[in-house]
Formats: sequence, C-alpha cells, structure tokens
Amino acid sequence: MKKLRLGILISGRGSNLNALINACQKTCFPAAIAIVISNKSDASGLEHAKKAQLKTKVIQHEDYPDRETFDKEIYNSLILENVDLICLAGFMRLLSKWFVEKWPSKLLNIHPSLLPSFKGLDAIAQTINSGVKVSGCTVHFVVPEMDEGPIIMQAAVPVLNDDSVETLSARILAAEHKCYPKAVELIARRQLSVSNKKVIDQNNYSLPNSLFNPPID
Ligand code: GRF
Repeated sequence: MKKLRLGILISGRGSNLNALINACQKTCFPAAIAIVISNKSDASGLEHAKKAQLKTKVIQHEDYPDRETFDKEIYNSLILENVDLICLAGFMRLLSKWFVEKWPSKLLNIHPSLLPSFKGLDAIAQTINSGVKVSGCTVHFVVPEMDEGPIIMQAAVPVLNDDSVETLSARILAAEHKCYPKAVELIARRQLSVSNKKVIDQNNYSLPNSLFNPPID
C-alpha cells in the first residue's frame, strides 16, 4: 500500500512532530513525512526533523507582506512535495480561509483540551482556572473557524488538585503523542468518514482505557 505523504507545520518544540517521526519510522506505519515546515528559523523542533534526515523548510511570516502571500508560499511548498495530509503540530499562525479551504478533510490540528471546551490560546490555564476535573487532547480536522473542525480523536487525562500549567501540560502532552499518530494512521487506512460535521470511525476505535486514569478507585 502506498504510504500517505505528510506535510508537518511547526513553530516550536516539536514534540508532536517527534511522535509522528517515531511512528513513521515503523515499517508498517501507513504514512511518511515528506516535509517539515517551520515559520520560525529557531524552532527547536527542526532538530528532530534534521536528526531523522527529513526535508525541512523555514518560511518566516515576517518575510511576507500579508497572511495570504505567506499562506501561498506554504501551499506551494506542500504541493511541490505532493503531500496528501497536513498536520499542524504546534503551528502558531492562523491559516487563512483560502488556505484551509484548499485542503478539505486533509488538514489536521492537535489541541490541548477536550474540544469544544477551552478553545484558543492558553487552553491549559483556562482548564485549570475553570476547575474541571478531566481534560485531555483533541485531534480534529481544521476549518476556517479556530478549533472548530470535526473531531477525529480525543483522549482524557485527570486534572489534579495541585496541577500547575506545567504538570497538566506534561500529562496532556503524553496523551497527544499517542493520539496524533493514531489519528494519522486511521486516516491513512481510510477508516474515517465525515458526515454532518461528525467523524465516523468504521471500526469504532478508541484509545485504551489506561489513558483515562482518574485518581479514584
Ligand atoms: C501542543 O500542546 C499542541 O496541543 C498545541 O501546541 C503544542 C505543541 O507542542 N497545538 P509541540 O511543539 O508539539 O511539543
């Protein structure tokens, strides 16, 4: 089976990129990374890509007069690499409607909350301040409205009494690193369809219960 070609967009640390690199290095994984694009030349995530000998490109938004020209440059770079699926992995720029609509059901994002709760920036601080007892991560298709696309996969983690942004982020991040490759795998294996803004998983896959581990008996 032909492997799906991934384009991955980052801005920073790239731990989700690294999780995707590790997954793609397994022979049986149905996707391969064609290009990693960063809008920051100093994104430490680029190191993961270089170590794995992946093609990288820096497209700095400051170098473009407006959002659409910047987005067109990213679009052209992805088209040149014949990508089938794009994964936003900590990419900190809002993409234009023009760009998003070029990739229906082909553009993914991961967000550190159980959407539709706590959209936008500071999701983890919002989570802690709200007093909710369960949080997690969401992999979703991207639509022009921020953090609103059809949900592909979620994993839950507990929010503990003494959590700081750092401790809760670390717990959520561990869940993200399992979810993102799994979501890519389901798409590559054509197990998902979208109907009425809902993602239907033909095999009803759900992450192992061990990911949801509340501190009660
Ligand atoms: C993750 O928490 C992800 O949910 C959010 O940005 C963060 C990126 O982290 N969209 P990393 O760069 O993948 O380590």
